Amino acid sequence: MLNIALPKGRLGDQVYELLAGIGYDCSAIYEQNRKLVFENPENNVRYLLVKPSDVAIYVEHHAADVGIVGKDILVESKPDVYELLDLGLGKCRMCVAAKSDFIEDKDRTLRVATKFVNIAKSHYASKNRDIDIIKLNGSIELAPLLGLSDVIVDIVESGNTIRENNLKIVEEFMPISARFIANKTSFKFQNKTIREMVEKLSAALEQKD
Ligand code: PRP
Repeated sequence: MLNIALPKGRLGDQVYELLAGIGYDCSAIYEQNRKLVFENPENNVRYLLVKPSDVAIYVEHHAADVGIVGKDILVESKPDVYELLDLGLGKCRMCVAAKSDFIEDKDRTLRVATKFVNIAKSHYASKNRDIDIIKLNGSIELAPLLGLSDVIVDIVESGNTIRENNLKIVEEFMPISARFIANKTSFKFQNKTIREMVEKLSAALEQKD
């Protein structure tokens, strides 16, 4: 059986639809229960429902053979996996945002709140800007509102969270979308199955365009 790690939440819904479109039905995921493993014996696959930020961990450690994960996570954690296909789903961008009246004082160290510590560090290193990082795990937009940070580095999709919290985008610096990834050993030993899946996904994406 091919073990497929799928993200829960917002990206998940788009992913399940894409998989259903290539014949990999995962409608059982929508049943109201707390199950985290779903088998689809017809296709010889097993879906594992995980937090989006954990998909690459499951795949890298061979707990899953393949998975679908945002490029933001891949850039942040650099897992040792193969990135096989850009699915074009879950499109968003990595941004710097701040309170609407924010004016940067370049003589001061910039306080940056983020979930994406490595991305934020490398972004500001490329500009030779001194920063202090404040690592948060969610609701990042609160940080500048409460004076915990000057700016945030976070993903913006619809822009609603930024708007509804009276923040403004200061910079956009990385386009993001979901990627199909594979464990390196699985890619060697289940090459035919994984390649077939990539081909079907590519064909479905081409049709969509
Ligand atoms: C993400 C991100 C932003 C929001 C952006 O948070 O951290 O807060 O989505 O989306 P939008 O531009 O469409 O409003 P998520 O929903 O993953 O929740 P979190 O605060 O728990 O990280």
